[in-house]
Amino acid sequence: MRTLSGIQPSGSLHIGNYFGMMNSMIKRQNDDELFCFIVNLHALTTVTDGRSLARNTLEAALDFLALGLDPEKSCFWVQGDVAEHAELTWVLHNYTPMGLLERSHSYKDKIANNLTPNHGLFAYPVLMAADILLYQADQVPVGRDQKQHLEIARDIAGAFNYVYGPTFTLPEPAIDDSLAVIPGVDGRKMSKSYNNAIDIFTPYEELKKRVMSIVTDAKGVNEPKDPDSCNLFAIYRLFVGDEVRTELKDRYLTPGLKYSEVKKELVEIIWNYFAPYREKREKLATRPDDVRDVLKAGAAKARRCAEPTINDVRRKVGLIY
Ligand code: ADP
Ligand code: TRP
Repeated sequence: MRTLSGIQPSGSLHIGNYFGMMNSMIKRQNDDELFCFIVNLHALTTVTDGRSLARNTLEAALDFLALGLDPEKSCFWVQGDVAEHAELTWVLHNYTPMGLLERSHSYKDKIANNLTPNHGLFAYPVLMAADILLYQADQVPVGRDQKQHLEIARDIAGAFNYVYGPTFTLPEPAIDDSLAVIPGVDGRKMSKSYNNAIDIFTPYEELKKRVMSIVTDAKGVNEPKDPDSCNLFAIYRLFVGDEVRTELKDRYLTPGLKYSEVKKELVEIIWNYFAPYREKREKLATRPDDVRDVLKAGAAKARRCAEPTINDVRRKVGLIY
């Protein structure tokens, strides 16, 4: 099975990214043919500061490698290092009805959040379709916010296949319902762009500040509380096994629970959960050139895997003469 997913280097990666996408990718590397990449071309749609894009690209690579992505077992690269992504995007534009993109929720959301609508933002799903179709991916692990993008990729693949015969595999989203939308400290979906994220490798004091700021209801200490509607619970449960989760549920239902105590526990739990990865990351960060080498080797491997498909497309549409 070919499994593929990408992440934008548009800021520090957070626990929503970790549980929604990174961890499920890393877990699959032993069984699947894994394609994992950092989508710097997509980030161009919102980041207009080249230096921070370059820095965040390397940081995202460090995060993945520290968290256990093994470049020997997978294909790990930076999207912009493989020019075929952009080439296939241009071909696919011509099989993408305008209405399909006009219906994109993520485009409409971004406009509603006052982002100036440029063409890159509008065409974003076509680049994402090219990312996926170039490698004939079967499964794409993502959070629920990406579901529509996957549908668009399938529609574009279908439109091309209809004209030229079977060319692209139709990809399936792999969305784990229990991890599909990790809430941020304010209860909305955790996102780099909402300033509500808990970053994976944030310093201790910042972690503490973030966790203590998780919004809870106004129930008093002596009232029983509802774990199922509690944002704090929804984050805490990610880091503990069934037993501790059930215990915490009981504590919620029993009068006497103080949210501030639960938050203090959570700071320690998150800090300790990522401790071994943090150590590994610190070591890797002292050798950025080695990380660059890993990414360049990954790009060469990705290009080899993309070659049969891009050549097939070039031949079919008439770019080879
Ligand atoms: P952000 O919204 O912070 O910019 P991205 O769009 O770069 O995050 O998302 C990268 C991956 O992480 C995607 O697969 C996305 O679905 C997943 N993801 C992001 N935020 C969350 C979240 N809060 N819950 C679950 N998955 C998420
Ligand atoms: N749009 C995805 C996001 O914001 C990132 C992405 C780009 C992606 N290309 C992809 C995800 C291909 C999966 C497969 O999270």
